[in-house]
Amino acid sequence: MSNSALTLKNVFAGYGGGMVLQGLDLEVRKGSITCIVGPNGAGKSTVFRVISGLLKASEGDVLLAGESIKSLSPAEILENGVTQVPQSRALFPEMSVKENILMGGYLIRKNPKLLKERMAMVEEMIPIVRERASQPAGHLSGGQRRMVEIARTLILDPSLILMDEPSLGLDPKSVALVSELIKRMTKDGRTVLLIEQNVRLGMYLANDGVVMEAGKVRISAPAKDIAGDPEVASMYLGKTK
Ligand SMILES: Nc1ncnc2c1ncn2[C@@H]1O[C@H](COP(=O)(O)OP(=O)(O)O)[C@@H](O)[C@H]1O
Ligand SMILES: [Mg+2]
Repeated sequence: MSNSALTLKNVFAGYGGGMVLQGLDLEVRKGSITCIVGPNGAGKSTVFRVISGLLKASEGDVLLAGESIKSLSPAEILENGVTQVPQSRALFPEMSVKENILMGGYLIRKNPKLLKERMAMVEEMIPIVRERASQPAGHLSGGQRRMVEIARTLILDPSLILMDEPSLGLDPKSVALVSELIKRMTKDGRTVLLIEQNVRLGMYLANDGVVMEAGKVRISAPAKDIAGDPEVASMYLGKTK
């Protein structure tokens, strides 16, 4: 258990109609990159809503490093070190890159020394944050914006980072940069849980792979095994690009 960053146990959750998640079990190892793939509508984004506390599981449990966070509010879960990188268009275009990132650091705004240290850490990890600090976020390319969105999350020094399709809409060069950053984020013990449409990319990035279908985990295996599984490719994934 001590190696576990996140565990979902027999989770049922939905939006009022039927249950979207139907007894979902998920184990995410500390320091890993775990990638969830699966067809549209399988419930991948819903898993993230349950982890962040935006949607309550009606059955089952959610454990962060062994402790249940199931009944915590989204704000409390954030304070416990779980952040989600927004999917897109999350930056304020007229505000500078630095201002946007400082907004992400609102939880530590009363500790200027810590905020400064964190900003230095983020600048070190993502050079564009320093290079473009005073430019309006709206002037950045799509790939640069994605890096700043990640920076805005990193300033809270999260232990578990959720990323829902971070490569969506990016050109190949930006995808490569974001991929490098995702790998880098786990070097110092952070855990990344990723949803990715592009199975080859996702499994190349990840250590552990999860295939979801109809609100359940169908396959949970080392990423390299999932990437090479012809049955997975033909049955579930459609888009392998
Ligand atoms: N806010 C919502 N209200 C009602 N139904 C939703 C909502 N969000 C998602 N759903 C439904 O839940 C199912 C799973 O959606 P989602 O988790 O977004 O799947 P995925 O991310 O795998 O494509 C879909 O059938 C979708 O229509
Ligand atoms: Mg989704």
